[in-house]
Amino acid sequence: MTAAAPTIGIIGLGTMGLGIAQVYAAAGFPVIATDAHAPARETARARMADALNARITAGKLSEAARDATLSHLTIAETLAEFTPCDLVIEAIVERLDAKKSLFRSLETILSPASILATNTSSIPVREIAAGLAHPDRVLALHFFNPPTAMKLVELAPHATTATKHINIARQITEKAGKTVIECPDRPGFIVNRCARPFYGEALALLSEGRSASDIDAAMLAAGYRLGPLSLIDLIGADINLAATRGLQAAMANHPRYHVFPALEAQVAAGHLGRKSGQGFLHPTTPGPAPADAAQIALRIEATLINEAHWLLSEGGTTAAGIDTAMKLGLNFPRGPFEALALHGRPAVLTTLSALQAAAPQAMKDRYTPAPGLA
Ligand code: NAI
Repeated sequence: MTAAAPTIGIIGLGTMGLGIAQVYAAAGFPVIATDAHAPARETARARMADALNARITAGKLSEAARDATLSHLTIAETLAEFTPCDLVIEAIVERLDAKKSLFRSLETILSPASILATNTSSIPVREIAAGLAHPDRVLALHFFNPPTAMKLVELAPHATTATKHINIARQITEKAGKTVIECPDRPGFIVNRCARPFYGEALALLSEGRSASDIDAAMLAAGYRLGPLSLIDLIGADINLAATRGLQAAMANHPRYHVFPALEAQVAAGHLGRKSGQGFLHPTTPGPAPADAAQIALRIEATLINEAHWLLSEGGTTAAGIDTAMKLGLNFPRGPFEALALHGRPAVLTTLSALQAAAPQAMKDRYTPAPGLA
């Protein structure tokens, strides 16, 4: 990286911010980072060193590379030190008022040419930008956890984000080794939205009396590394429930984002998955695939394909972008459009139509085919 490399600012040094800081510092960008909480600032360098040392122990990093990464990190005590930044990414608390107030303060410090990025998972980017002097420089750079390991970054501009800022944020983040997929400022961006049916349809099958083992084994047989219920066990049923409820509220309670009672019951029972010791399957793993594994997988993939088409119909992204995002964000063996090519449109539409016919009235619209699919 040359001396003219853009300077990256990171605000919030928790789970995400520290990892994002490491991503850019490892790529040679000067990084200025801070946190409102003094202990988070004071421990940040040591926490990053620990993460880098673990990679040295695993034989994946040299001591020289660790030292170079750490040399690019400056921990700031105040926002005034962010003046040189070309791109500032906030990874603070998930609250609109906090993010707005931070960006308002930064506007008084940064040059108008610098970009303000949010790592929000659930707040509309346009709401964070509203009322700023230069809303055209605001966009989302949504990293996945852990940012150092996950290749995907969703880039979500809002309606008036300037193209030059989109391009610069993309170039810098690609230089830091990430695959950047542009998506609209819509709830859940690509991955958190298009993943809903993976969990939801599994929960529907569960409530129809299928075993968790059968459902997950069917998806393993279809090439998925983890079944949907084991994935909920890994993420935590409480986290999954909060994400589903968030999408449901943001999408006007549409039945495609239905919160299944089976998930609420897991959380109420404290069966959160790995972190509580008991989940849908955890501590066990799925048994042999059932005889109708292919139908189970087709049902779940048909709903994934449909959700992806609904998102595509809303604009701002591409089929290839959605496929890449789902493979990188969730380790899926194929994206929904690749799954469509595998099964063929008639099989997918027949599956959706049968599900719609069997669904109770309030759930029928869950299976209505998207405009580009029907
Ligand atoms: P965290 O709670 O681990 O870290 C947040 C940090 O921000 C804390 O150290 C806190 O002291 C600091 N902070 C809070 N308000 C601040 C302010 N006004 N100014 C400066 N520092 C402040 O949270 P986490 O998990 O890192 O999440 C951060 C953001 O990233 C949130 O918007 C979250 O929705 C988003 N996100 C989280 C993901 C995850 O898996 N944890 C994945 C993708 C996005």
